[in-house]
Amino acid sequence: SEEKIQYLEKLNQEALLGGGKKRIESQHKKGKLTARERIELLIDEGTFEEIGKFVTHRATDFGLDKQKILGDGVVTGYGQVNSRLVYVFSQDFTVFGGSLSETYAEKIVKIMDLAMQNGAPVIGLNDSGGARIQEGVVSLGGYADIFYRNTLASGVIPQISAIMGPCAGGAVYSPAITDFIMMVENTSYMFVTGPNVVKTVTQEDVTAEELGGASTHSTKSGVTHFSCANEVECIKNIKRLLSFIPQNCEETPAMLPYEAGDEVRKQLDEIIPTNPNQPYDIKEVIEGIVDGGDFFEVHKNYAENIVVGFARLGGRSIGIVANQPASLAGVLDNDASVKGARFVRFCDCFNIPLLVLEDVPGFLPGTDQEWNAIIMNGAKLLYAFSEATVPRITVITRKAYGGAYDVMNSKHIGADMNYAWPTAEIAVMGAKGAAEIIFKGEIKEAKDPQAKLDEKVDEYTEKFANPYIAAARGYVDEVILPHNTRKKLISAFSMLENKVGNMPRKKHGNIPL
Ligand code: COA
Repeated sequence: SEEKIQYLEKLNQEALLGGGKKRIESQHKKGKLTARERIELLIDEGTFEEIGKFVTHRATDFGLDKQKILGDGVVTGYGQVNSRLVYVFSQDFTVFGGSLSETYAEKIVKIMDLAMQNGAPVIGLNDSGGARIQEGVVSLGGYADIFYRNTLASGVIPQISAIMGPCAGGAVYSPAITDFIMMVENTSYMFVTGPNVVKTVTQEDVTAEELGGASTHSTKSGVTHFSCANEVECIKNIKRLLSFIPQNCEETPAMLPYEAGDEVRKQLDEIIPTNPNQPYDIKEVIEGIVDGGDFFEVHKNYAENIVVGFARLGGRSIGIVANQPASLAGVLDNDASVKGARFVRFCDCFNIPLLVLEDVPGFLPGTDQEWNAIIMNGAKLLYAFSEATVPRITVITRKAYGGAYDVMNSKHIGADMNYAWPTAEIAVMGAKGAAEIIFKGEIKEAKDPQAKLDEKVDEYTEKFANPYIAAARGYVDEVILPHNTRKKLISAFSMLENKVGNMPRKKHGNIPL
């Protein structure tokens, strides 16, 4: 039996080496960690349990029958992150370029099924040359088995994808269906067709990095939610993200201990400029409100006119959606609407209450916006808020104009509480635009049209550029002093803790895609 034990030891050692020392070295030379090193960074020490370590592929063509590597290119298992159960798969580029075979897919499917049955997040660490070319359609079938499960798991358990190397062709559609994507700068890329195919079809010359690197997808396409300087930072971000979200859709995020006493935040009184057309940074407001001024921003460099992310308020995890007056005056456009809508839907899936900070002059005008379907994209945000049953609170800091007032989590579409600062202006549009339209005739006929316009602007401002008409109607529950915002919100979210929000029975809604 000594021999048998030694044999097992030998196999275990062999499995740990993946594609061998040389390929591990070449992985390190590229500035990348190996599949197992990544798991070590992610999972709490001593808690990782591997599943399927000795699995090998079943292919025989192209000499593959003579090249079997234990584990077959993906390390799968479960373990803990900050003492909470997660399932993980980590693709091993040193084995056939991390390419996906039939058995490799089966390993991933197995842990996805376990994760669904046991209600815990799945984290995928991607680094792969795509479908294993020698296996053909069997490999494609394996991908589809994964995509199908990504879809079934969507909204049931959190799914997080880190891209730490190539992720091309069909392979992109698994991360795309998951809740969050993180990419590592300069060593990862994602595209449906690579630079060579692009060159042949469209004659464009583009590098892999330009076409689908982290900076491209974090700024231009919005495909990735996080762009990380290196793999260590990427894994830190995964852990941080997990800290705000629960294990599955039946749970709420864990409360952190919180010591009362710092509710009043005087600095909030100083942020809104006297001139309503002057920008300010909404992140100062967010940081002024939340616990420890600590805001975990999602999609930081994409559609910066809306800010989304996670924070804690009185120890409670919340999702924040805020217009950003410092970028495009905080207008809603196509990208901002889609970014906001997806974030709202994530929070609603996983019982994370929503805080909306509103300062929005309206939707961005122009052919570019209209031809790219701002009608449908704006509707996504409206729909996402309307169907969200988590506790929802809005604070109007300044402008709440036009249709955007309705869209940004107004009481009319189901917000539970709506507060306004004294600087709030709730109207159909800005005073100047409004006066020009409704007093057009009077202004034209006046001896001094400019003076008349100014007079009418003042009249409109006095009547509408304030929160009191909305408060008189009950559309605003209370006009609050900025420095009391944190106190009010902690109290209101606590009051809403046991909210039961029911939607009409249906198979599923038909969000305008
Ligand atoms: N199937 C089978 N083996 C693959 C593979 C795939 N899809 N992709 C890479 N490999 C193997 C390579 O043959 C090589 O094997 P070796 O170490 O025995 O020489 C190893 O993985 C590393 O690949 P290599 O090309 O040397 O690495 P690279 O960093 O220079 O390039 C890629 C990485 C992903 C750009 C490149 O391998 C590639 O283009 N692969 C094919 C991608 C593709 O078209 N996939 C199918 C469509 S989904």
